[in-house]
Amino acid sequence: MGQTLPKAGLRPYLPADTPMLAAIFVAAIQELTGDDYSEAQQEAWAAAAEDEEQFGKKLASELTLIATLQNSPVGFASLKGPDHIDMLYVHPSVVGQGVGAMLCDALEKLAGARGTENLTVEASDNALDFFKKRGYVAKQRNTVTVHGEWLANTTMQKALANAAPGASS
Ligand SMILES: CC(C)(COP(=O)(O)OP(=O)(O)OC[C@H]1O[C@@H](n2cnc3c(N)ncnc32)[C@H](O)[C@@H]1OP(=O)(O)O)[C@@H](O)C(=O)NCCC(=O)NCCS
Repeated sequence: MGQTLPKAGLRPYLPADTPMLAAIFVAAIQELTGDDYSEAQQEAWAAAAEDEEQFGKKLASELTLIATLQNSPVGFASLKGPDHIDMLYVHPSVVGQGVGAMLCDALEKLAGARGTENLTVEASDNALDFFKKRGYVAKQRNTVTVHGEWLANTTMQKALANAAPGASS
């Protein structure tokens, strides 16, 4: 069962975090998704962080939050636009300890406070149960091409109970 990390913190992304977040992204894909994706698919997925400048631009263009443990980044999540979770990655060394839930909670609260009524995510197969547990419902199965490889994911949606009244998503 997930336990709360004693010194876990949350802060916004800064450009200087890019190399660390690229390393977390690659490690999470390589070590946590092997049951559902082939090595070739994992490599294609992880290749998104090869060009650090591009990766940094993507992180900066979204609302990116970083989870820290003793001030070191251990995971990150990003909200694209008002209603879409784009990235959620936790370092394998701290997986299963509540970091993913903490990041997801924060994005849900931020989106809800901005009036978003429904949050969506294209969940990777290994993260399906994580999102299901949080009340996300599968809407549509997708297949996307990433660096020449076909990867399956599932569009999931959650109605945010605390959406600001009167605001539209
Ligand atoms: C999915 C991911 C972010 C989860 O992070 P995490 O820090 O391990 O998650 P938490 O510890 O906060 O888990 C919260 C709950 O979900 C459960 N959970 C987490 N990952 C799970 C999984 N793969 N399958 C089933 N349940 C899972 C936990 O057991 C916990 O349940 P509990 O509240 O009953 O204890 C992490 O495994 C990861 O980075 N995966 C690889 C990258 C990825 O696929 N990201 C998603 C892209 S959409």
